[in-house]
Amino acid sequence: MKTVVFSTKPYDREFLSRANESVGLELAFLESRLAPQTVKLAEGFESVCVFVNDQLDASVLIGLKKVGVKHVALRCAGFNNVDIASAEELGLTVTRVPAYSPYAIAEHAVALMLTLNRRIYWAHSRVRDGNYSLDGLLGFDLHGKTVGIVGTGKIGQCLTEALHGFGCKLLGVDQYENERCKKVGMQYVSFEEMLAQSDIISLHCPLMPETYHLIDNEAVAHMKRGVMIINTSRGGLIDTKAVIEGLKSGKIGYMGLDVYEEEEGLFFEDKTFEVRKDDDFARLTTFPNVIITGHQAYFTREALIRIAETTLANLSAFASGEELINQVKAS
Ligand code: NAI
Repeated sequence: MKTVVFSTKPYDREFLSRANESVGLELAFLESRLAPQTVKLAEGFESVCVFVNDQLDASVLIGLKKVGVKHVALRCAGFNNVDIASAEELGLTVTRVPAYSPYAIAEHAVALMLTLNRRIYWAHSRVRDGNYSLDGLLGFDLHGKTVGIVGTGKIGQCLTEALHGFGCKLLGVDQYENERCKKVGMQYVSFEEMLAQSDIISLHCPLMPETYHLIDNEAVAHMKRGVMIINTSRGGLIDTKAVIEGLKSGKIGYMGLDVYEEEEGLFFEDKTFEVRKDDDFARLTTFPNVIITGHQAYFTREALIRIAETTLANLSAFASGEELINQVKAS
């Protein structure tokens, strides 16, 4: 079975090729992002392998179907970029990698928290410049602080366990209570109560119509003054304009982002010599208390190995008509 891999970076090629040594599928690697303009490149392939910022709306799915594609293999966990209902109507099978390393993302969330709190980015530059002054670098003890975790699934649970080690008080928001989180003292509360009580809020729920702009003006209004917000989930969970206002007023004291609502076509690319066209993103980069990483939370060796192995297992199972344990269905 032939598969075309979109949005290929050198590390994707390396890890997928290595995992494929024992599987033997026919893989073609393309650097292009899947979008209406590139859908024709899938002609002659039964499967397409895609990542978080490939575009799989109804028009692209129709295009894929027309050129003979039968299977969309996501090499990521989130599937908010795929119109699953349309895929089902068209008879296209969609698979994903539901879990590869929840530790990678949870650890990156902790990295953002500590970096922001202790101003490591400023401290590093200062020492390199020969400035050893501590003014402006004052942090706080994480121990004893209240952390609100929205979404206590695989990643939220890893973060809960890590922060338990720091001695944080843990508040969870999720329709399903996670016993492992409760075991380390997590208390489940309403979203509003979590907003009102948390010193740090970390987002770990999926992006869906119900969670789009979960953090909006109203949510910011309910937060403690000086709150830290961490988002390693999906950019659309945060209304960027609302948090810019919150940062300007001082209501939000710190913000760490690994994802951004308009990140397609921006993240994963070198845009050094391009004029910044997104004014909201440009504004975010001007705040001294905001740090942004370009969707790298998943980017560990262990995660890339698991992603490659599971993606190839999904492709292989589809090719041989086996049961698809990682299929994404509209229901
Ligand atoms: P999961 O499915 O194990 O957990 C998600 C949890 O969110 C579930 O317990 C679910 O009940 C809960 N949830 C759903 N709607 C909610 C709502 N309205 N309020 C509160 N909780 C809600 O997923 P996992 O593996 O923990 O991943 C979470 C998200 O992290 C993914 O959807 C993905 O968007 C993001 N992610 C980001 C990565 C990165 O590199 N930055 C890498 C991998 C995942």
